[in-house]
Amino acid sequence: MFALVNLSYLTAAVFFILGIKGMTKPKTAVRGNQLSAIGMLIAVTAALLHHDIIGFTTIIAGILLGSSIGALLAKRTAMTSMPELVASLNGVGGGASLAVAGSTWLTAIAANSVVTGVWSAAILASIVIGAITLSGSVVAVLKLKGTIGDSKRARQWQLITAASLVGILACASMMFGEGQLSSLVLLAIVGLCLLLGVGLVQPIGGADMPVVVALLNAYSGLAGAATGFVLENQGLIITGSLVGASGLILTAVMCKAMNRSLPNVLFGGAFGPQADTQSKSNDSEFYDGKVKYATPDDLALLLDGARSVVMVPGYGLAVAQAQHAVKELANQLEARGAKVSYAIHPVAGRMPGHMNVLLAEAEIPYDQLKDMDTINPELPQADVAIVLGANDVVNPAAAEDPNSPIFGMPILDVHKAKTVVNVKRSLSPGFAGIPNSLFIRDNSLMVKGDAKEVLQATTSAIKEL
Ligand code: TAP
Repeated sequence: MFALVNLSYLTAAVFFILGIKGMTKPKTAVRGNQLSAIGMLIAVTAALLHHDIIGFTTIIAGILLGSSIGALLAKRTAMTSMPELVASLNGVGGGASLAVAGSTWLTAIAANSVVTGVWSAAILASIVIGAITLSGSVVAVLKLKGTIGDSKRARQWQLITAASLVGILACASMMFGEGQLSSLVLLAIVGLCLLLGVGLVQPIGGADMPVVVALLNAYSGLAGAATGFVLENQGLIITGSLVGASGLILTAVMCKAMNRSLPNVLFGGAFGPQADTQSKSNDSEFYDGKVKYATPDDLALLLDGARSVVMVPGYGLAVAQAQHAVKELANQLEARGAKVSYAIHPVAGRMPGHMNVLLAEAEIPYDQLKDMDTINPELPQADVAIVLGANDVVNPAAAEDPNSPIFGMPILDVHKAKTVVNVKRSLSPGFAGIPNSLFIRDNSLMVKGDAKEVLQATTSAIKEL
């Protein structure tokens, strides 16, 4: 039976790897998801066949409870709140590892087990990474929700982080030095790790949150892998390692997308909403009389003569749920012989792949979606670039103003298009909280309004031309 269970775990791992590979391209993403689900079914069945698991009544109760909470969350969470949901799930993963390793520790105390070797190191790793992931994710969720702002006391938090780290090392050396497990040391380690999680995430700026969420995702996987060693469960070791590795790769991709190094994100202080409060207060002066406004009718006239149009979706497109409206306008333009593409910035929206998911919902062909490196050289030839609820990812300050808090972040070069039209409701800033010089460029127009309403009005106007 043991061999069969392990063989099933191995088969599940192959499905997971094929699933992850499938999810690297929008075209194969659905199949990738299905393959991963099959892998999970095999892994769960194998775990149920394992001889020393708890009773089926508890398992079924757990499945019912977990599935109900999951279904409710999935139904109630808006696409724009996905990062909070992902961050919460990371926290739940870390918390589960902490609970399993903690209870194993307590069982070992009762059995008078001696602290030795890989097994004890695995328990420690599972508790440490699990607790950091749990409290770090709670802080990340609260920051993403805006319940807590960015800390202006980055230095103090860094001191707390360093002190907790020293405390954890002291507890670990006490544990291995004495060769004994104690519930007091367990309590101290859990407390210090929870504090460390808070201390690591609290000083990080709002705009760096995508990187932090990806990193916490990696941590939850690594905690799971360590728990796999604790339980001697090969399936959990493989799955946890896959989550850990893919989370680390995603972290690296996000860092590259924002032109930030990981140490810079973790220890560099705030890069986000509160980082440039002065510029925020000077917004009205910044834009005063310099923005040229247009109407949907003007936009329709402009588009009527355009041969090449680039749609630039951002967070506002998701808020407005304007994905079908943009497709409808694109259909009209294509029927008039224009070439339409969609420029996708890697951190547009509020989660990795946010814009891809949104546009896929409206069945926009994948080959029209162009990533930043592909579309940027094409933008100078575009007749019109229509920025739909995007702000930070098209802010030229990232390339031109060394004093800007987002300086260095790669952007979509929409300011190089012949005409750029910004569709948004006001002059409010985006996620990073800074003004956007794009709106006052010579080749820039603004159509004020909800993205969906503006797109629908433009489509109606173009039909009448
Ligand atoms: P943002 O810079 O956040 O700007 C969004 C804009 O949408 C706002 O300026 C807002 O202006 C506009 N908007 C909101 N509702 C709208 C509506 N109904 N119709 C039209 N416009 C609307 O968006 P972005 O350019 O996509 O950049 C994303 C930002 O989020 C980056 O700073 C990124 O680092 C950060 N972030 C990204 C992620 C990931 S992984 N993608 C996760 C967390 C944070 P008005 O209020 O004036 O309409």
